[in-house]
Parts: sequence; C-alpha cells; structure tokens
Amino acid sequence: MEQPPTIRRAELIAALSHALDLTEGQPRGHCIRVCWLGMQIGIGLNLSTEELVQLYYALLLKDLGCSSNAARICQLYLTDDHKFKADFKRIDGSLSQALRFVISHTGLESSMAERFRAVVNIMRNGGQISRELIEARCHRGADIARQMNFGEDVAEAIQNLDEHWDGSGKPVGLHGRAIPLASQIALLAQVADVFYMISGREAATQEIESRSGTWFDPKLVEMFMSLAEWDEVWETLSSPSLADKVLALEPEEHTQLADDDYLDSVSKGFAMVVDSKSPFTAGHSERVAVYTDLIAENLGFDAGHRRWLRRAALLHDIGKLAISNTILDKPSKLNDVEYAQIKTHSKLSAEILSGIPAFHNIVAVAGGHHERLDGKGYPFGLTESQINLETRIVTVADVFDALTADRPYRKAMGIDEALRIMAKEVGTAFDPTCLNALVAALDQTKIAAA
Ligand SMILES: [Fe+2]
Ligand SMILES: [Fe+2]
Repeated sequence: MEQPPTIRRAELIAALSHALDLTEGQPRGHCIRVCWLGMQIGIGLNLSTEELVQLYYALLLKDLGCSSNAARICQLYLTDDHKFKADFKRIDGSLSQALRFVISHTGLESSMAERFRAVVNIMRNGGQISRELIEARCHRGADIARQMNFGEDVAEAIQNLDEHWDGSGKPVGLHGRAIPLASQIALLAQVADVFYMISGREAATQEIESRSGTWFDPKLVEMFMSLAEWDEVWETLSSPSLADKVLALEPEEHTQLADDDYLDSVSKGFAMVVDSKSPFTAGHSERVAVYTDLIAENLGFDAGHRRWLRRAALLHDIGKLAISNTILDKPSKLNDVEYAQIKTHSKLSAEILSGIPAFHNIVAVAGGHHERLDGKGYPFGLTESQINLETRIVTVADVFDALTADRPYRKAMGIDEALRIMAKEVGTAFDPTCLNALVAALDQTKIAAA
C-alpha cells in the first residue's frame, strides 16, 4: 500500500478542530482563532516552552467535550443545540441575561404547554442543570484528551475551561489561581473570538474588560488589553495566513510528526467526540471500525491497509457533528427538510478530512459511505464502478451496526434478522463480497465465542 504523506501533529489537530467548531455552532476556524489569541497572551506572560506547548493544545482542543451535552440540551430546552451553544457563549452569567436566554431559547417550536413545562423546569433547577451540562462537557473533553495521549496539564485545562476567577464558574466553582492558567487563557480567548466575530474588535475588548475581576483575573485582562492595541493581533484573525501563523506558534523544539500510533489515537479520540453526540449512536463509530476490520481481515487485507481503513471507519460520521440533535434524536419520521440535512453529513465528513494529507485515502470512504451500487445513494448518487472496495466495506459495517443498535424510532434487531434484511439488497445497496465476508467473520466469531 502507498504510504500516506506525513503531517505535523499540530497540523492534524488544527484541521480536525473544525469539527469542534461545527459542534459548537461557531464560525469555522473558532478553535484556531482562539489558539492565536491565547498564544499571544501566553507569550506575553513569558510562559516556559513546556507551558506554551500545553497551552497550545489546550486552546485547539478546548471544545473536545462539546458533543457530550448536545442531546441533553435538546431534551431539556426543546431546541437546536447549535444555536443554543453559540448564543450561550454570549451571555455573561448574570441572572437577568440568563432569564432572557432561557425564555428566548426554550421550546420555541413546541406547543405552549410543552414550552411552559420546560421553562418552569429550567427556572426551578437552572443551577443544577447548567452545572450538569458543563460537567458532562468538561469531563468528557478531558477524558478524550487523555485517550489522545495528551498529558494531565492539557486534560485539566480542558476540564476547567468554564471556571471563573471569582468562583462563580462551573462545575466546581474553583477560585482564582486554583484555576489552571491555560483554562483561564482559553476562556478569555474564547470570549474575545466570539464577540469579535459577531461585533468586531471594540465589542471584544469591551466584553473582556467588563468581565475583569469576575470571569477573569484582572492581571490577565491587563495583559490582553495591551495586546489588543496591536492591529496585527486582530487582522490575523481574518487573514488567509491565520492557519500558517498558528502552526508557526507551536514551540519549534516540540514540533513532531504524527506517526501511525498518533493517527490511531487521534482518530479514536474524534470518534469518541462523534459517538458522544447522540445516545442512539453511542459506540457506533467504534463498532463500525470493528466490523470493518473483521471484513477487511476476511478479505485478506494486509496490516497497513487494515490500519488506515479502521481510521476511515472511526471517522466516517465526523460530519454528523454539524447536524442538530433535534434531527439526530427525533423519535418520529424525519420530514424532507430534516432528511436533506442528515444527508449532508457524509459530504461534510469528506470536507473535514480532505484538509488532512495523512487522511487523503480515507476521504472517499467517509464521503461515500451512504452511496449504493445502484446509484440511489447519497450525496452524489455514485454507481458501482465509482465506489471503491474500502467504501463498500464501511457501508456494510455501517448499516449492520445501524440495524443491530437501538434507534430513536425503533428497537435494535437481532444479528440474523439484520443480515436477512441486508441480504435482500445485495447487488443493489451492498457489495456481495463484503456482505459474505461479514457473515463469514461473524460465524467465526460465534465459533470462537462458543
Ligand atoms: Fe453516516
Ligand atoms: Fe455511520
């Protein structure tokens, strides 16, 4: 098999951070812009090289846990998680803003009775609800960072992102210097970018200044305000050279290429982000990777080939991070508009991964996993000759897992029933060789387990 091109670790993480922007409902490049702003502060504070490296990755990955509370937000607030998350980042935590936010975001498309019930529940239990939502996000983010082999400093910086200088933050209410410095910088840079993107430089600096002593350490705000006078700091945020400038900020002596083990860990980490998005797809990407590997082994693929195909399976649904849980978790049939939205996810998967040279061979697999041999699939309606074997394998693994797992609108099927249903579409949806390989591999697994 041809070796994929090499890539720097920072380049890989920066490219994948776009998936986190989508989940948070932020304009593309949010994590990269936050990295730019936060690193200016870190450099201004004369942090050591080790501290700057930790800060760098904490800034890029601050939203790793972002998908883990999306389903709960939809359930509690009866609303679209992306808009909720984007707008929530703009409030300052004062009671008046929080009340306005709840009333203007809860159950807008629900019946009056449902909306009233949801608003009352949030007003009565608001503190506990927001603590739970933030806790889920922070802990999951830290766990995923550990899975990706980042050290405790990066994990803890992510875990404490929403703590505030005056102790009013969540989930623990840490106070002052008990909050890791990287978390403090990341939150400040996040607020600066959110307001900069909506209302510009003045609004961003005003917002930071107004939260001095409450959300932020006044000394940190002072440092930021002195940096904020430089035009280059702001102009870079919307410059085409932003990504290159952010890559150049990683301390040189710590730059490393992403080796195969690293590519595996990062793929697994981002699969966890995808699988955290909806309770109905928990574990889906990981199981699809297992079934994919069983099929590939049965077809005699060599170890290197199986390795990159497992990564493709882990990341095939990364574009689903852009789809609202109001659609992903809908218990009834999707309408045409909702179904059209769902159908965008495989194309988005391909778009996200296409920015990563080391993943160049998995782009077609991720983008084509809902195509069918008869041309009736999506997004392009490709036909048999245009769908490669690797994509056909992931398609079989994907549908097999979808049928054998619970969905919002039906219970999981048994293995035999799922295989019977899939057999009816051999040659039209599924490649016979791939389905036979799955059946044979499952038979062998049954024998091994007997
Ligand atoms: Fe999919
Ligand atoms: Fe899938």
